[in-house]
Amino acid sequence: MSVILAIESSCDDTSVAICNNGKITANVIANQTIHQNYGGVIPELASRVHQQNIVPAVEQALINANVKKQDISAVAFTQGPGLLGSLLVGVSFAKSFALGLNIPLISVNHMHAHILAHFIDDPKPNFPFLCLTVSGGHTQIVLVKSYFDMEIIGETLDDAAGEAFDKTAKILQLPYPGGPLIDRHAQKGNPLAYKFPEPQIAGLNFSFSGFKTSILYFIRKEEKENPNFIEENLDDICASVQFSIIKILLNKLKKAAVEYQINEIAIAGGVSANSGLRKSLQETAVELGWKVYIPAFQYCTDNAGMVAIAGYQKYLVNDFASQNISPLPRMEF
Ligand code: KG4
Ligand code: ZN
Repeated sequence: MSVILAIESSCDDTSVAICNNGKITANVIANQTIHQNYGGVIPELASRVHQQNIVPAVEQALINANVKKQDISAVAFTQGPGLLGSLLVGVSFAKSFALGLNIPLISVNHMHAHILAHFIDDPKPNFPFLCLTVSGGHTQIVLVKSYFDMEIIGETLDDAAGEAFDKTAKILQLPYPGGPLIDRHAQKGNPLAYKFPEPQIAGLNFSFSGFKTSILYFIRKEEKENPNFIEENLDDICASVQFSIIKILLNKLKKAAVEYQINEIAIAGGVSANSGLRKSLQETAVELGWKVYIPAFQYCTDNAGMVAIAGYQKYLVNDFASQNISPLPRMEF
């Protein structure tokens, strides 16, 4: 019998989850809206809001899961990667909570947790599988050999896919985070209206910084001829940008599947909430005979449910952390 309380505070969402014998029975996510005023996450503000949110989020999670503090077997937390100030709130809280209850601590790598979110609900992938992990800070193709043995076989050399969405949104004067808004506009637009160049990067790596610049120059050029260009063509611009990002991601994923001879394919991270990516992946699966795994929406963007399930796997093998543990903003994979 085990009850894991998990805390996620790596960026701008404060989340607390409960995992009861391998089942997620609470996943409370307190979003921080304050950053919308600034067009991006302000680290100092994020850590202050985590401090305000964390105790109410823990209390709510205990209520939702119908669990008492004394029932908790261990506390899992995101150690990194992420923003130092944000991580510090979660790590300090987890340490004090575990110390107060005299129970073990479990440290979790945020990127592993995104991947292990696939073990929350059925169907679960079979090892080994490939996971395209696409978030605001990372773009990776990971060869997942077991719960604990994962290897990055491709990654971005500069910007992440989520940044490509968010920075495009900024160019289009859409509020932060722009990814979900681009997704919404794209659903009404023509994906073939405009063409953007696909970066020519060797192997399984990605690059999005030149892509983003090409969008900026394209918009500037069009606005010279028509100052209302964005307003009049927003849906088509969003659909075309999204189409290009998905094409870049899926082309590398197809390459990886051939190279590694694997047809169990998963996606994870905030960008895996994108409706176009989810649909294109399903279509590619039919075309190439892949078995694909797409997480439920609540487990795509940052959430403690994924930290809880990752923590549960470590709990089963007694992999505990010491009370001296510190946050690791640049935690290795
Ligand atoms: O995993 P996540 O919540 O946080 C990080 O670990 O970075 O990912 C956040 C990223 C942001 O860039 C956000 O714009 C993007 O995921 N995102 C989306 C969608 N929902 C979230 N991008 C495209 N379409 C979406 N529907
Ligand atoms: Zn994340």
